[in-house]
Amino acid sequence: MSLQQEIKKRRTFGIISHPDAGKTTLTEKLLLFGGAIQTAGAVKNNKIQKTATSDFMEIEKQRGISVATSVMAFHYGDHIVNILDTPGHKDFAEDTYRTLTAVDSVILVVDCVKGVEEQTRKLMQVCRMRNTPVIIFINKLDRDGKDPYDLLDELESELHISVRPLSWPIGMGKDFKGVYLLYNDSLNLFEANKTKRSEEIIHFDNIEDKSLDTLIGERYADKLREDVELIGGVYEPFDREMYREGLLAPVFFGSAVNNFGVKELLDTFVEIAPSPAPRATNKRLIEPSEPKFSGFVFKIHANLDPNHRDRIAFLRVCSGTFERNTFYRHTRLGKQMRFSNPYNFLAQSKNVIEEAYPGDVVGLYDTGNFKIGDTLTEGEDVLYQGIPSFSPEIFKEVINRDPMKSKQLEKGIEQLTDEGVAQLYRQEPGNRKFIGAVGELQFEVIQYRLEHEYNASCDLIAMPFHKACWMTGKPDAIDQFCKFRAKEIVFDKDGNRVYLAQSAFVLQMARQNNPDITFHETSDFKLSS
Ligand code: G4P
Repeated sequence: MSLQQEIKKRRTFGIISHPDAGKTTLTEKLLLFGGAIQTAGAVKNNKIQKTATSDFMEIEKQRGISVATSVMAFHYGDHIVNILDTPGHKDFAEDTYRTLTAVDSVILVVDCVKGVEEQTRKLMQVCRMRNTPVIIFINKLDRDGKDPYDLLDELESELHISVRPLSWPIGMGKDFKGVYLLYNDSLNLFEANKTKRSEEIIHFDNIEDKSLDTLIGERYADKLREDVELIGGVYEPFDREMYREGLLAPVFFGSAVNNFGVKELLDTFVEIAPSPAPRATNKRLIEPSEPKFSGFVFKIHANLDPNHRDRIAFLRVCSGTFERNTFYRHTRLGKQMRFSNPYNFLAQSKNVIEEAYPGDVVGLYDTGNFKIGDTLTEGEDVLYQGIPSFSPEIFKEVINRDPMKSKQLEKGIEQLTDEGVAQLYRQEPGNRKFIGAVGELQFEVIQYRLEHEYNASCDLIAMPFHKACWMTGKPDAIDQFCKFRAKEIVFDKDGNRVYLAQSAFVLQMARQNNPDITFHETSDFKLSS
């Protein structure tokens, strides 16, 4: 099969949601359809329990298990579907944001009872930064939720994206009858069933067809006809190009736990979702169909077992064909590397692979060479762009507890932050080190791992910072500002100057008083500005 054909077959995407909306359940149902798992519950058991807030060893154990489900690949019809799992726990939000740089599209799950929630908004912001195409699945229609029109309005106004329903619910909660598929005028009758795999769809040539009344009752049939007419009047027909540009989100209604509305979602997804597209490097745009291989690391997973200190780097293939046992250039280190046991994630098991194509994710055993964002190529000196750092929300200073072990501590902090567990900032002079993270959990992870893996210990002292801001603008103005605010200026791992603002108010004042400087809350300025 030609490279072009391999690319066309692939759909690499992420499922995102506010915790509890149904992401894990939907993932599992998609895998059942894809034949990647045989029983319900297989994915669910790997999920980080939402109750676990501080029992981080338990969480790490579960994260360990979930390596296998970090990427789930399966065949569906003529397609190869790669689902990149994103952690639901909010303390791992940064992991999720980075994973989103490696997908070509997303499915966003929204709970029909709760509507748009905090994490829904944040995740959509990240999608909008790179115009990622989004399909929305409104879940839990078997519960009494918000009115579907209100939900659509809420999605548009809160997520700043146009929507177009492609299916429409008939009733809700205990009166939920099913969904009408607007794109091919057919009816999918609801039946609560957690294990079924296929759905019976009834087609209509004309919605006026009286058999509709027999199937769902006259009252619901009349209401549906009204709704279909109204939707046709209010919403423009679905425009695939607008979807591909990230401007329009098609919407489906269903109930993941009952496996309802999932098949049409998957069928439509493989039909309309984009295959791997060109990606920007620091020098040029690289087409997936270019014969030379290139890819980047978007995630690093450490093995917590002290007997197996290896790490796994997740590499997304962006162009050409990746081949086993072939030398590639690690462009940041200027080093040739080859991999004798690269593996894929097909059908949830690790298989050593001979080759991989654009859109695929390859697991590479790593002994500490990789950090997030690293690029591998067949020789060209480029770096893939757009693995952003987002401003952390909690900041702590690292104080060494044992001066005899400062080397171990330095190495541990360096490696853990390379993995993306948290962000490291240094302050000159004085070589003070601050760690920034999204949640408390990361600090626990760091302290535990420093002790167990690096034999180093430290105190982490809370610092009163609110946001980390990267700066662009007039160089003189930035220099002046940094001089004036020296106590709050630090360097990130790439040597960029970062301003640690003490509060939202202070940040607002800094913005007001320094019109020649733009303060960014993500390091990915080119994308965010
Ligand atoms: P998440 O990954 O987005 O955090 O959500 P997850 O799939 O774990 O789903 C959260 C809860 O919502 C689960 O219930 C799940 O069973 C339920 N759920 C998912 N889809 C539907 C649906 O279509 N209808 C209804 N009514 N519930 C749904 P739980 O009680 O937290 O877990 P469990 O005991 O059911 O496993």
